[in-house]
Amino acid sequence: MLNGKIGLAPMADYTDYSYREICRKHGAEFTFTEMISIEALIRNKKESFNMLPKKNEKNIGIQLFGYNINSFIKAAKMVQNNGDWIDINAGCPVKKVIKKGAGSALLNDLNHLEEIIKALKDNVEIPVGVKVRLGFNGDIAERIIESVQKANADYVIVHARTQKQLYSGKADWNRFKDLKKICDIPLGASGDIYSYNDAKKVIEEYNADFAIIARGSIGNPWIFSNFNPGIDDIKNTIIEHAKLMIEEHGEEKAIRRFKKIFIGYTKGLVNAKEIRKKIPYINTYNDLFDIVNTLE
Ligand SMILES: Cc1cc2nc3c(=O)[nH]c(=O)nc-3n(C[C@H](O)[C@H](O)[C@H](O)COP(=O)(O)O)c2cc1C
Repeated sequence: MLNGKIGLAPMADYTDYSYREICRKHGAEFTFTEMISIEALIRNKKESFNMLPKKNEKNIGIQLFGYNINSFIKAAKMVQNNGDWIDINAGCPVKKVIKKGAGSALLNDLNHLEEIIKALKDNVEIPVGVKVRLGFNGDIAERIIESVQKANADYVIVHARTQKQLYSGKADWNRFKDLKKICDIPLGASGDIYSYNDAKKVIEEYNADFAIIARGSIGNPWIFSNFNPGIDDIKNTIIEHAKLMIEEHGEEKAIRRFKKIFIGYTKGLVNAKEIRKKIPYINTYNDLFDIVNTLE
């Protein structure tokens, strides 16, 4: 279960199979799927099944979001053979999700969160962890840690912000140190980890057991190995990433989804500004290929 110290965080619309492959290749020790709706799985929605890990993937968590306990059990049972552990999303701050009581809204009802964790622990064969924030409106992280431990979660990952903060301000790494004092299960750190050294720091200085990287990996899979890529590494990886996505999603969807990742890859390049102006006009693999050749 979740072997390793530095892994790739779940990111909706980003961390598909291709993204995970690229990050694994450059050192991500473990990965997660994008968040997958339990209700959509139960309704047999094809797109949700496409988000599940592929057969060759190892050390990967399936992240589920939702509210209803029976739906959680049913969905988790359906997918448990596809991954190494189940991760419960109790951190998503998006309105569409929280208005159904899911994601970070679960932090407003810790009894219910406990019931979900217990139900999954009783009904699935693989480990069950949970990804949380510090709280919904205020920071109640100690109470959250107590709850998830009481429910026998196998690990907890804390994004060191509240729901109310969304992505503003700075993630409060000091809270990892506070929380580790009362946390007997593995504690994962998330939030503003923008380099390999940041990841090492939250582990070595802030006492987290492992770290996950989200935004810092967009267009920078080398973050997982502390490698400084040259222009040819960047060009080759862009092409490799785009080709994998075309295989996974077909050209049209792949190119549409890849554009925002491409912006990440151009960060810091000499002609990034000029290149970015051309991104809206990329519609095919050939359009992308031509532009990649002009990267400096
Ligand atoms: C575009 C995007 C999509 C995200 N999707 C998910 C998700 O599906 N599940 C989840 O638990 N967290 C999700 N997150 C939160 C990240 O996993 C992470 O906790 C947060 O971004 C803070 O880490 P960072 O500073 O490394 O980005 C998402 C974040 C971003 C930026």
